[in-house]
Amino acid sequence: MSAGLRPAAHKTEAYRRRAPAFLKAGFSSLQQGYRSASLRFKIAFLVVILITSTSFVLSIVTVQIMNNYILNEIVKRGESVAKSLAASAGYNLLSKDLLGLDNLVYKAKAANTDMLYVAIVDPAMKTIVHSAADMIGETRPVARGRLFSKAADGTRITELTDTSGSIFEIRSPIVFMGRHLGSVVIGMDKSILVEAQQKVSRMVLLVFGTIAALGAFVSSLLATFLIRPIRELSTGVEELKHGTAKSPLKVYSQDELGRLTQSFNEMSALITDQRGRLTRYARDLEEAYVSMVKVVAAAIDARDAYTHGHSARVARLSLRMGQRLDLPADDLRDLEVACLLHDVGKIKTPDSILLKAAKLDPEEFREMMHHVEYGASILSWAPSLAKYIPSTRHHHEWHNGQGYPDGLQGDDIPLFAAIISIADAFDAMTSDRPYRRAIFKAEALRRIARMAGTQFRPDLVAVFMALMETEGDQAAPRVVAGGGG
Ligand SMILES: [Fe+2]
Repeated sequence: MSAGLRPAAHKTEAYRRRAPAFLKAGFSSLQQGYRSASLRFKIAFLVVILITSTSFVLSIVTVQIMNNYILNEIVKRGESVAKSLAASAGYNLLSKDLLGLDNLVYKAKAANTDMLYVAIVDPAMKTIVHSAADMIGETRPVARGRLFSKAADGTRITELTDTSGSIFEIRSPIVFMGRHLGSVVIGMDKSILVEAQQKVSRMVLLVFGTIAALGAFVSSLLATFLIRPIRELSTGVEELKHGTAKSPLKVYSQDELGRLTQSFNEMSALITDQRGRLTRYARDLEEAYVSMVKVVAAAIDARDAYTHGHSARVARLSLRMGQRLDLPADDLRDLEVACLLHDVGKIKTPDSILLKAAKLDPEEFREMMHHVEYGASILSWAPSLAKYIPSTRHHHEWHNGQGYPDGLQGDDIPLFAAIISIADAFDAMTSDRPYRRAIFKAEALRRIARMAGTQFRPDLVAVFMALMETEGDQAAPRVVAGGGG
């Protein structure tokens, strides 16, 4: 037996342990849902809860009061009739006027439809007169049930529970000339009371239900009305954050919310004005910065009459490739600056090497190769220029890994560096150098096509070839403000 009960006991214990966690999770989920709900919902929800709970409590109290009132009315009426009968029946009993007694009982019963029976009994509880004639002569048992009330004159009201359980029996003693002659017994139908109570309960619930429903509807409307300025303020803050604010918010009132909206409008105007100024300053700063980069690039190119304008030409060619690759505007701007700075390291290359009219010997070539590292080092001095280090350092890397300084290969070579590599080579081949003359563009293109997959990225070579075929090496539109040269 105990073994059979054990699993059930374990299960109960497991539920008991899990219940708090489950309730905690449910409560936490409700809390989370409430936090993320809209303000309108929260206000409407709280008002509805308030109205519903108030209506619920009021309806219970009202029903209780009404129940007591109806009960008292019925019982008092029965008690009143019983006492009245007892007062009238004394003389008839003494004079043994059964007809008069019968008349009294009949009238009382006829006047009160909720009386189940009316009887007059002698002190030994033997029925003398009864509204049901067949009960005459019967001895009534002592009423067993809950004593409802007892008056000073001996009138007792008992709620019978041993029969149908739906009767209030009222017994009022008949005392005449100091003698106890018997009692009036009246049975009041409790089901009428129950019916009346249910009717009242239904009406009260209907009234308060209607109040609660109306309250919910009105609170929803009220919440919408109250929330409107707050919602517009919230939208205004979002628009201000994203810089899309168009017009001041409407001020609906002169209360705290109205003053808040007014202050927000003033603050918004101030921020929009300052944002405009900052944008203009940023544009001026950017133009100044780009101009400086161009000056630096031009200064580097100017050291050597043969490379004059080289960086600007590389920038134009690279930009056109970038446009064909559908690079975003910001990337195109960075690509142009990267091109202008790609040979910045040559500022440290000695004139004896940079301007040498003959071909460089291996030692000199090694020194020339260092210009990419010098460039990366120079750019590392300014955090705003650090993003151009990869293209400066790696624009002499080869696709097959045979380039310098790090021997990167394939896609490890940054995109900008791979683009600059092609434009740089094309411009170098088609420009006069101290130790050789420029070659024809067609020959330069053939050499670049031949080096696709070894020195250059094949897909970028394809882009470059297509570009040259359709557009030639015409100047590209300027991307960076104040560009050119
Ligand atoms: Fe270079």
